[in-house]
Formats: sequence, C-alpha cells, structure tokens
Amino acid sequence: MEQLAQKVEGMSLDAIADAYPNCHPELNPFDFYRAHISNILSGISGVDPKIIFSALSWTASLDKGDLILAAPALRVKGQKPDELAKQWGEKFPDNDPLFEKPTVVNYFMAFFLKPAPAVETVIPLIQKHGAQFGCNKFHGLKDPKDPSKGQKRMIVEFSSPNIAKPFHAGHLRSTIIGGFLANLYQGAGWDVVRINYLGDWGKQYGLLALAFEKYGDEEALTKDPINHLFQLYVRINSEMSAEKEQIEKRKQDGEDVAELEANSLDEQARRYFKKMTDRDPVALAQWKRFRDLSITRYQDTYARLNIKFDEYSGESQVSEDMMEKIGQEMQDKGISKEDKGAQIVDFQALVPGKEGKRLEKPIVKKRDGTALYLTRDISELLGRHEKYQFDHMIYVVASAQDLHLKQLFKIIELLGHNEIAAKCQHINFGLVLGMSTRKGTVKFLDDILRDVADKMHETMKKNETKYNQVENPDATADTLGISSVMVQDMTGKRINNYTFNMDAMTSFEGDTGPYLQYAHARVSSIRRRAGLSDEDIASADLSLLTEAHAVNIVRLLALWPDTVQNTLRTLEPTTVLTYLFKMTHALSSSYDHLQVVGSERELMKARMALYDAAHTVLGNGMRLLGLSPVER
Ligand code: ARG
Repeated sequence: MEQLAQKVEGMSLDAIADAYPNCHPELNPFDFYRAHISNILSGISGVDPKIIFSALSWTASLDKGDLILAAPALRVKGQKPDELAKQWGEKFPDNDPLFEKPTVVNYFMAFFLKPAPAVETVIPLIQKHGAQFGCNKFHGLKDPKDPSKGQKRMIVEFSSPNIAKPFHAGHLRSTIIGGFLANLYQGAGWDVVRINYLGDWGKQYGLLALAFEKYGDEEALTKDPINHLFQLYVRINSEMSAEKEQIEKRKQDGEDVAELEANSLDEQARRYFKKMTDRDPVALAQWKRFRDLSITRYQDTYARLNIKFDEYSGESQVSEDMMEKIGQEMQDKGISKEDKGAQIVDFQALVPGKEGKRLEKPIVKKRDGTALYLTRDISELLGRHEKYQFDHMIYVVASAQDLHLKQLFKIIELLGHNEIAAKCQHINFGLVLGMSTRKGTVKFLDDILRDVADKMHETMKKNETKYNQVENPDATADTLGISSVMVQDMTGKRINNYTFNMDAMTSFEGDTGPYLQYAHARVSSIRRRAGLSDEDIASADLSLLTEAHAVNIVRLLALWPDTVQNTLRTLEPTTVLTYLFKMTHALSSSYDHLQVVGSERELMKARMALYDAAHTVLGNGMRLLGLSPVER
C-alpha cells in the first residue's frame, strides 16, 4: 500500500489514517481508495472530505463500478444534483493514478479502478498478510491510537443446550451463529470469551437423578452419557405422567390420594432437587458427574465445528446466595412485588407506555421460594460482569426468547445498572422448519452431523474418478456434511426461518457448502499441478495480469477486508457468504480464460499468484464462518 501511496502526490498512509474515521489504508485497500477519491472530490466541490468518505459505497456488481457516489448525499444546496455530478465528473483529473474518469449517470458517479495499480498492490498485500488478510486488530482496542491500553473484552454466550434433553434447531443455530460471531470479533482484535450456558438445573434434574437410581447403567453412562441420560429422562417422564393420571383418576373416584401424592415421583423429584439446591454433597456429586460426562461429550462434537468454549457455565452454577441478595434488592427497590405468595415484576407499573405492557408480568420467585430461569439469568449476568468486566456481551438465542431477554435487560436497568445493560445485546434468529433426519426426528447434534455426512458420502460416490482420488473419504464426507449444514444455515438473514433440506444442502450445485468447498479445493489443486515454488510466485510479474477475468478477481479480492468491516456492522454471516459466492463465481468463469498449467512460464507464475491470493481469501472467509476448508 505504501508504494501505491507514493504514486499519488501529497498522499501518505498516515495522513489519511488520521484524516478519516476508522480508516486503515495499510490493511484495507478500500479505505485507501475512498480516502483518495474524497481528497480529490473535496478539492473540486469544497465539501468536507469526511462526508464524501462515508457517502462512497459499494456497487451491486463490478460492471457498475468499484465505488459509487450519489451526489445528493453530499448535501450541497442551490444546484441540481445531476448537474453537480456532471461538473465534478468533468473536473476529476484525466490522469489519476488509481481511477478512471468517473462515469456519471443521473446524479450517480461511478468510479472504476485502473487495472494495473490495483493488481500490483492487492496481490502483494494478500501475500504479505496471508491468513491475517481481512483482520483488523484496531476495532477491539480500548484506544485505537494506543495499543498499550489493551483490548476490549467481548463475551459471546452461545449454543447453551439442556442436559438430558434434545439438542434442537435453536441450539444448532445458536452454535453456528455464535461460533461465527466469536471468530469475527476475535479477528477484529477483541479479547473474546466463549461461554456455554447449559440448561442443567431445575426439578426435572431431580427427576433424572431418581431415574438413574432406578434404572441407571454405569457402563452406558460412561460410554454415551448424552443418549443414556436422555433415555432415562424420557422413561421417567412417561412414568410420571402415567402416575399422575392414576392419581387423578382415583381422586375422581373419591379416594384419598394424599399418601400417593406425598410419595409420587413428582414429589420425590421436588425433594431431590431441594437437596441439590441445599448443596447436599451426595446429590450434588451425582449431578456433577452427569454434567461433567455430558460436557466431555459436547466438547468432542463442538471440536468438529471448530468451536472451543472458554467456560461451561449453566443454570446450576448460579449461586443461591447471590439470587437471594438480588431478590431482596428487587423487593427493596420496588422492582418486584408479592402476588399470591410469589414475587413478580409488574412491568406495566414500572415502565411507561406500550413498552411496559409488552414486557408483561414475569415471576421471579415461586411461592415455594424457588428461583426461575429469569432469576438465574439476572444473577448470572451481574456475576459475569463482576468476573470478566466485559465491554460487551452478546447472547445468541432464538427469537422465541426475545421477550425473556428484553425482560432481563430491563430488570438490570431498573436495578440501576444502566451502563451494564447498555453493553448487552441479544442476537436472535428464526426457526428451522422440518428438521428431521432419515432415521426420524433429530435428537442430538451428533445425529444430524452423522446423517448429513452419510448423505454426503453417497453424493461423493456418484463421481467415481474423483471419489477415488480422495484420501480419506470418511473424513472428507464428514467435513462436507458439516459445511452443508452450516452454509444452509448462514445463507439467509438470521431472522428468517428456513426449511432443513438435506438434498438441497448436500448438492454440489447452487450456492451450497459442498460447492464452496469444491471451489476452494479447485484453486488448491491448481497449485499442486503447477508445481511452482513460493519463490516463483513471489517473483511473478503481475503486470502480465491484464485480462478482464483476472482484473475482476482482483477487484473482488480487494473488497475482502471491507466486507469484514461491513460484517461487523451487520453481524450477519450471510454478508460473508454472499461475498464468498461472488468470489467462487468469478473464479469458476475465469478458468477457461486464465490457464495456468500449459501456459508460458512467466504467465503461469503470474496467474498462479492470482489464484494463490484467491485461495488465501476463500480460506480466510471460510474459516471465519467456522468451516474447515478442504484441499482435495
Ligand atoms: N438453555 C436455554 C434453552 O435451551 C437457552 C439459554 C439461553 N441463554 C440464556 N442466558 N438464557 O432454551
């Protein structure tokens, strides 16, 4: 980038980094391009360059330019925007080192990069930064001007399944989206803490312990804790329902059921759970075993998705003392009040207008004194703030819990912690419809992944020649299966519902996970076949890359760091995915025009440098999403 700056009179990277907000021309070519156009147009129009800088935007496709400016966005009074655009366009220098003369249509000015300088800066920039290309460590600094002040801390809470219960679509989406957000912030220089907040507390876990006493099997538990606990849970629950029905019937027949009720499973579970909350060592140790064994299992599955949690928190980890203390504080401050023996938060009386009404009247303490999901979340949030002193915290939870999180954040505010509430954010998402495997409805993440991998393996076998080249087909099928599920999930906006479609997601046609992997493996294979060394590629004469296909690939490559910056605003995986598919389409249409193997040596080196850069960027994008790019 420095060499590029030298081509422009009076330009330096430091000067533009100082002149524009969040501008990092040494990392992001588009920051450089925007600054350059803003400098020129400000001279021509007299408009504040910062206004121009933020008004320059991307185009929908490369044929519309690399950057576009709508003249009205500069808010110049007195003249028609069409005329202004025309005048400014005419005054734009004829021999600018970076851009062609802008194309003016109505009040739009479209700017096209000059091919040679773009090609000769972008490819070396990618070679220089490699796996770091697209990262921008300034975003997460406490003070972007002074790195010694340290990083900001981000908590991402995601996945959060419930022990002994199915891992449902909501958990799947939370896992995928949360893993991605954590990577995104980490790449942007934040100190990221990944927390899994397990559903692992409540009367139902007392019931589970009873089930284990009755029907538990040590061997099955250690071998497959998740399935064994789930089976016990299902069994004891159906027993309990049958028992309830019995008692109800006898009651109606006029029998005295007091003793039956006192010994019922429901009552035993309640008593057992009471022991757990009273910190009875035996009950607690048993519960900890179930929990630890389940976590060990979860860890293996998460590892397949390239996810590692820093903390397995959970509802069981919230301290009763803390809840007691906060409960008292809520009463004292008039946030909660008594209602039929329970404590409730009557938001309508506390928050004016429609908002108060929408927040409803949640219970925070049951009549028997026990806490609830919401109560635990309040304590957990404040506890986390004390422990981590976070700058921001994201909860990745289905939109079905929108109200719950609104209530939670509002209570934190009412407790007087406005500054903490302001740091919390709920990232929500829609439903997955029709999620079932071929073996029935989905219960666990492992089942989904195994089933998709099987399907993927079948698809791979259809191309026998290619199949025979794959060294470890099982592992590849597994990776492709995971990519299928993840890409399908990330294709639309988070809030949209989508239908789980095994055939569509595992296809190599269309914008799917397998297609993305195929595109990556294909650029990778060129390098293997070309047999060029790193030195060959580093010494390539990039000025040989003049074909439109080559230039277009470079124009897209240049957009990658800006795409990441934009993703930090949208927080949508689809922002990254849309970019990656544009890239793969540009690549696939280029191969016939830009032969590597078989071309004259110098041309071969230059084209290899181009495809190598594309390989780097595709890989960086895929890893950001949480995918494992395959080379074959
Ligand atoms: N375990 C919960 C469920 O399955 C999700 C937890 C979401 N996080 C939270 N802090 N409430 O519905």
